[in-house]
Amino acid sequence: MEVVILASYDEVSRAAAREVARVLSTKPNAVLGLATGSTPLGLYRELVRMHRDEGLDFSQVTTFNLDEYVGLPPNHPQSYHVFMHEHLFQHVNVAAQNIFIPSGAPANISAYCAWYERQIQERGGIDLQILGIGADGHVAFNEPGSSLASRTRIKTLARQTIEDNARFFERREDVPAYAITMGVGTILEARELLLCANGRNKARAVALAIEGPVTAMVTASALQMHRQAKVLLDQEAAGELKMREHFDWIEECRAGALGAQLGTEQ
Ligand code: F6R
Repeated sequence: MEVVILASYDEVSRAAAREVARVLSTKPNAVLGLATGSTPLGLYRELVRMHRDEGLDFSQVTTFNLDEYVGLPPNHPQSYHVFMHEHLFQHVNVAAQNIFIPSGAPANISAYCAWYERQIQERGGIDLQILGIGADGHVAFNEPGSSLASRTRIKTLARQTIEDNARFFERREDVPAYAITMGVGTILEARELLLCANGRNKARAVALAIEGPVTAMVTASALQMHRQAKVLLDQEAAGELKMREHFDWIEECRAGALGAQLGTEQ
């Protein structure tokens, strides 16, 4: 795992956007895995800017979102469908038929989840998966206890996640208790993973995910099993890392003579 600690949230967002642009420069028809929530807002702002000012082209890109709340229609203001259209899709040139976001209201949930997995396969698999991390260490909505081999399915949100996400809803009771989410196993099949985190409330989860044991109790720790996982942190999110000096040293070396040969494989 490559851990990069940056000065600010803005730097995290810009570095994440550069990773997306790098992938698109070598593979214009790449498949991107996308996340919602507060963390990727800066990334999406920067991608929109790069599309507008630098011609970053999404015309051949396919996207798969990680998750959606169960019970929210796609036009609900708090649905992840609306979130993605507001913050990214309406501002860039991704073709509508290439956008995949789990449905929040499928007739047959398990058949639908199997279909979503098949779409990922049929599009050639995910090249770069963007991830945030929950304060309880979740990736996507793989809450503590989720199998590290799990696939797309319905999950019950942890109480803490419901509390954390209540800020987006008028009332706490309005936060759905279930989501359809890619599984940890689905996520681990992406060719590259990019996890971003900012803010002090993520510091503990980040430290457990990076330096703790691989455990279903902190599903982000599964990134330790991936060959090409990069973590971008601001100072606050890196605040509880014990190996901080080591990670800074590795990044210094990347800037040195042999840095380019270190490659992205970790
Ligand atoms: C959202 C998702 C979640 C969030 C996580 C952090 O698609 O997959 O795992 O990434 O809950 O959310 P924020 O960024 O709002 O702190």
